[in-house]
Amino acid sequence: MVTRVLVTGAGGQLGHDVVEYATRSTGNDVIGLTHRELDVADRHQVRSVVPDLRPDVIVHAAAWTDVDGCEMDPDRAFAVNALGTRHLAEVARLLGAHLAFVSTDYVFDGEATRAYAEWDVPRPLGVYGASKLAGERELDPSFTIVRTSWLSGVAGRNIVSTVLGLARQSDRILRFVDDQKGCPTFTEDLAPALWRLALDRRPGIFHVTNQGDTTWYGFVKAILEEAGHSPDRVQPIATSELDPPRPAPRPTNSVLDNAALRLGGEPLLPHWRDGLARLVRACHRSEQAE
Ligand SMILES: NC(=O)c1ccc[n+]([C@@H]2O[C@H](COP(=O)([O-])OP(=O)(O)OC[C@H]3O[C@@H](n4cnc5c(N)ncnc54)[C@H](OP(=O)(O)O)[C@@H]3O)[C@@H](O)[C@H]2O)c1
Repeated sequence: MVTRVLVTGAGGQLGHDVVEYATRSTGNDVIGLTHRELDVADRHQVRSVVPDLRPDVIVHAAAWTDVDGCEMDPDRAFAVNALGTRHLAEVARLLGAHLAFVSTDYVFDGEATRAYAEWDVPRPLGVYGASKLAGERELDPSFTIVRTSWLSGVAGRNIVSTVLGLARQSDRILRFVDDQKGCPTFTEDLAPALWRLALDRRPGIFHVTNQGDTTWYGFVKAILEEAGHSPDRVQPIATSELDPPRPAPRPTNSVLDNAALRLGGEPLLPHWRDGLARLVRACHRSEQAE
């Protein structure tokens, strides 16, 4: 039987790749709605648009992801990330649809000296993480939560596109922090895993990231290397050296142990260097096509 899937935030990097993957590789019926087509913070709109589409599954990838913006405008952060999720949960219940919510490593405070498993207690440091955790708490136990981290994909502005642009434009030395570590994750790899968990209606929390971890400095060094630039074009700095300082605090360690998948004997995503190599090649191809 064909399952009809609604994807929110389809104009974003993950939403785009979920729709792309589903259209290309599955026989299901997928409807991607961009922010312009569905504002999740608007309960009236959610209640009028979503039931007409009769989804069996909703993949909720929309969010206000500007971490510093959220810190400066908590009301907007909670309206989109928490209340918006409440609206989708409400409509999913009405329709008997399954909801899969995408959450973040920033629900953790970063104080652990090991990777965070799904059962560790969250304690967000900033408003973005707090608003996403509030979103998690709007869900029924039968719904899916996929926590992921440090996303990059072809359809967005992210650290990979930023560093490639900077490296092309000037010889300026880049400075990136070497005291925050996490798992770079590529939406091309995350999309099929998220799709599978959502369509299988898996209850509970899953950490889903590419394997391996690094710091932002290590990530930028690898981006430069992958694109054929000298890795010496980036210097490590401490978060305290950022000028001006960023409004939102970030966890120093937000590495996610994909424990639920690992302990369940389920496939893990490839190493982040593998995903990075594919994304850099895709960026080069689209540059040459322009
Ligand atoms: N990016 C990361 O590093 C990261 C890390 C961990 C978890 N996540 C989570 O992963 C998911 C996907 O992130 P992403 O990287 O794909 O983010 P993204 O590229 O910023 O995409 C998010 C999309 O949501 C849309 N959106 C914002 N407010 C909305 C609203 N009120 N109603 C409907 N759509 C709205 C945005 O549209 P506009 O741009 O037009 O406003 C954007 O197209 C999010 O849930 C995010 O919290 C992201």
